[in-house]
Amino acid sequence: MKGIILAGGLGTRLRPLTKVTNKHLLPVYDKPMICYPLMTLCRAGISRIMIVTGGNSAGEFLRLLGNGREFGLKHLDYTYQEGEGGIAEALGLAEYFADGEPVCVILGDNIIENNICLAVENFEKQREGAKILVKEVVDAHRFGVAEIEGNHVARIEEKPETPRSHYAVVGIYFYDHTVFGKIRRLKPSGRGELEITDVNNFYIAEGNLTYEILDGWWTDAGTFESLLRANSLVAETGANKVSPLNEQPVSPRFPR
Ligand code: DAU
Repeated sequence: MKGIILAGGLGTRLRPLTKVTNKHLLPVYDKPMICYPLMTLCRAGISRIMIVTGGNSAGEFLRLLGNGREFGLKHLDYTYQEGEGGIAEALGLAEYFADGEPVCVILGDNIIENNICLAVENFEKQREGAKILVKEVVDAHRFGVAEIEGNHVARIEEKPETPRSHYAVVGIYFYDHTVFGKIRRLKPSGRGELEITDVNNFYIAEGNLTYEILDGWWTDAGTFESLLRANSLVAETGANKVSPLNEQPVSPRFPR
């Protein structure tokens, strides 16, 4: 399975912090934000990874991460998204990189306490379709919200005013190769973006989407409030305490 980190967009909700730099280079406690999703993929044993970046300071990702040696990687792929056409648009740019293989996609501002090893293993067994991760939250209206019926997801609504459940869709997704055909069928949403929620709803319509509940804490870091929360969670719980930029190279499958 290949990994794709989406770190494009303009980070407008964090202006002026993002006026001259890219949101994913901002600090979260002791590391730049991008290190956390990269670590999440590496910890799950995913070693072929593409970073989709965009906006300001895109070249700084190369200076920071290079070929990923400090994360135990041999190579990192990069591509560039012009503007802010949406999460699904950014993912579409990685089609040639995926080259027909299943992918694990993680949003560049999503940070988790634990790991996704089990979900990766389960999706490898699933072989086709998609898998999402969900987490119970108190502010579901900020996210994609999954309506769960029994053991399946009935539908997902993007930032509903009145959420039908407390299950937020985490920014970590597993897709088979058909995801790129689905992205081509998308139309821009009300906010002018190609929405990942619409992609997930295509899979639901096909009866081909599974879900798991993420264990441990999860946060995004795309608003002042959530960025502060991300800093506190990482500082307080010591999550991701192996600092890959300062330590010896680590194996992609190193234990938590
Ligand atoms: O954090 C999880 C949530 O992320 C999900 O529950 C939502 O369903 C999903 O739409 C998304 O919501 P946000 O509105 O919070 O996403 P945001 O626009 O902040 O983008 C999140 C990351 O996606 C961002 O850090 C970089 C990447 N991205 C985003 C856009 C709009 C891109 O690479 N390109 C883009 O054009």
